[in-house]
Amino acid sequence: MTGWLDGHVALITGGGSGIGRAVADRYVTEGASVTILGLDQAQLKEAVESSPDPARMHAVQADVRDSGQLHRAVSETVERFGKLDTLVANAGVWDFQRQLTRLNADELGALFDELFAVNVKGYLLAAEAAWRELVETRGSIIMTLSNASFHVNGGGPVYTASKHACLGLMRELAYELAPKVRVNGVACGGMNTDLRGPASLGMGDRSIAGSFAKRGPGTPPPPLPLHDSSTDPRDFTGAYVLLASREQSGPITGQAVCVDGGVGVRGFTTAAGGDHL
Ligand SMILES: NC(=O)c1ccc[n+]([C@@H]2O[C@H](COP(=O)([O-])OP(=O)(O)OC[C@H]3O[C@@H](n4cnc5c(N)ncnc54)[C@H](O)[C@@H]3O)[C@@H](O)[C@H]2O)c1
Repeated sequence: MTGWLDGHVALITGGGSGIGRAVADRYVTEGASVTILGLDQAQLKEAVESSPDPARMHAVQADVRDSGQLHRAVSETVERFGKLDTLVANAGVWDFQRQLTRLNADELGALFDELFAVNVKGYLLAAEAAWRELVETRGSIIMTLSNASFHVNGGGPVYTASKHACLGLMRELAYELAPKVRVNGVACGGMNTDLRGPASLGMGDRSIAGSFAKRGPGTPPPPLPLHDSSTDPRDFTGAYVLLASREQSGPITGQAVCVDGGVGVRGFTTAAGGDHL
């Protein structure tokens, strides 16, 4: 085998769907063994069975808000595959861009508690559960960040604050865990996944896929410089491979790779556009 991650072992939270599942499959294709962690046992089972090599994929049903369950996932990974090289902290929920003025105080408080518990505390507790094993292997943590880690309007105030918090968490842990463990982020742009809304607002069954489904022929492209780039999560996995590989990214820590169609070079109001080129 000649992958970028031969013999590597990873644990991916939220690995049963979306970008987490795409990264899990890509890691296996690159030679790694992977534990996927998620809430939905049936979804996890299906992801293992259809992976490029089910023998190198293990599933753990767990909630990222529960430290004991995260520790169990790390232990099972080490028992099954012998070590842990990379934690991908990824499980998350979205707020469907629910703005401040559309929420009352009770809704806002419940939304904050739910979203920060999954998106921020879930990353922090996963790092706490994994760091000792990562020190052993001189491994790394990769956090799924977002365009909302840098820019407004990728969520409402609660999601945007949560993803800004994850950027700070990534940078702080990169400082604290150096030189033994590298910590980086992949700031993804819009992906057509199953990203759900908050149960506290009755949006637990609503998926971001519905927003993409509304984009039919004749719909203007999103105002991104690379507006013709893919929204398939499989096309966002390259940065996760790069950052997991010691050979390819050994000196990189505390950095976010933006994989977002160029939000940061959109211009003062809109993309200048090179479609005529
Ligand atoms: N889809 C996008 O447009 C987009 C853009 C930027 C960033 N992101 C981020 O990507 C990450 C993955 O989301 P996705 O788009 O692949 O959506 P997804 O819903 O397909 O994946 C998220 C996974 O996390 C799991 N999960 C949710 N809460 C959990 C919990 N408490 N414990 C364990 N697992 C839990 C879900 O069951 C799901 O499998 C999230 O952090 C999200 O904020 C998504």
